[in-house]
Amino acid sequence: MTIKELIEKHGDIHENWLILEFLTNKEIFELKFSKNYSVDDIYDDFLKILEKRKEHYPLQYIFGKWNFYGLELFVDSSVLIPRFETEILVDEILKLNCNKEKILDIGTGSGAISLALSSNLKDSIIYGVDISKEALKVANKNKQSLSLENVHFFESDIFSNIKDKDFDVIVSNPPYIDEKDMKSLEKELYFEPQNALYGGKDGLYFYKKIIESANDYLKNDGILAFEIGYNQKESIFDMLKDKNFKILFSKRDFSNFDRIIVAKKENI
Ligand SMILES: C[S@@+](CC[C@H](N)C(=O)[O-])C[C@H]1O[C@@H](n2cnc3c(N)ncnc32)[C@H](O)[C@@H]1O
Repeated sequence: MTIKELIEKHGDIHENWLILEFLTNKEIFELKFSKNYSVDDIYDDFLKILEKRKEHYPLQYIFGKWNFYGLELFVDSSVLIPRFETEILVDEILKLNCNKEKILDIGTGSGAISLALSSNLKDSIIYGVDISKEALKVANKNKQSLSLENVHFFESDIFSNIKDKDFDVIVSNPPYIDEKDMKSLEKELYFEPQNALYGGKDGLYFYKKIIESANDYLKNDGILAFEIGYNQKESIFDMLKDKNFKILFSKRDFSNFDRIIVAKKENI
């Protein structure tokens, strides 16, 4: 069977090209220019992947890797698949005109945020923490494969193992789905770690916990930056104001939902 025949049979959709790219180790544009190329040797594997996709098993876990902020990251079912919205968070932190020498990333998962920051801020030191040992293994594997020295991963239940009190930036994309939305998740999301998704009954548990103590761990003028759920901005603004944070800005995603909040610790 040729590429042309396979595409005619299974559809000229982007996902099929991505699967072909993965199985042949050739780039999509190259495949599109060699439509008479034989795919006999990979066709069985292609069909197996289509079977998994029928059950909504995420493509990213099948590939075992995904691109985040230009970095190729290993991913498996012990970590949340890094999302595009989170790239906006990284972007906003990089653009901030503030000190970024020492950064804490709470709920690091695959290490996505920490690794993207460390590869762009070579003079900074980034600490990524997670409660999941399995996730930390993936984060460390990513650190090694990217040869990044200025990032360290360790276990911590939010702040439980954080001793330092002089962070310039604390960033988090915590679990934030509420009880109601957990009942109507997209099918792909059932394959992702539930402790990376569920943010308590109102989805705000982790924001409350982090905001409650963040002042103790930030330097004066330190930055607290979050990714948030589509309907959480006002509640989180209130929590931040209660703890005397100055809200710098929020940012929307391409679907026009407020998804990023950046605030500053006021001098005390
Ligand atoms: C939404 S995922 C974010 C993963 C990654 N930062 C990203 O943006 O792709 C949330 C992460 O928080 C971690 N987590 C859950 N409970 C935690 C806790 N009590 N303390 C620290 N991390 C926790 C989960 O294991 C998961 O990796």
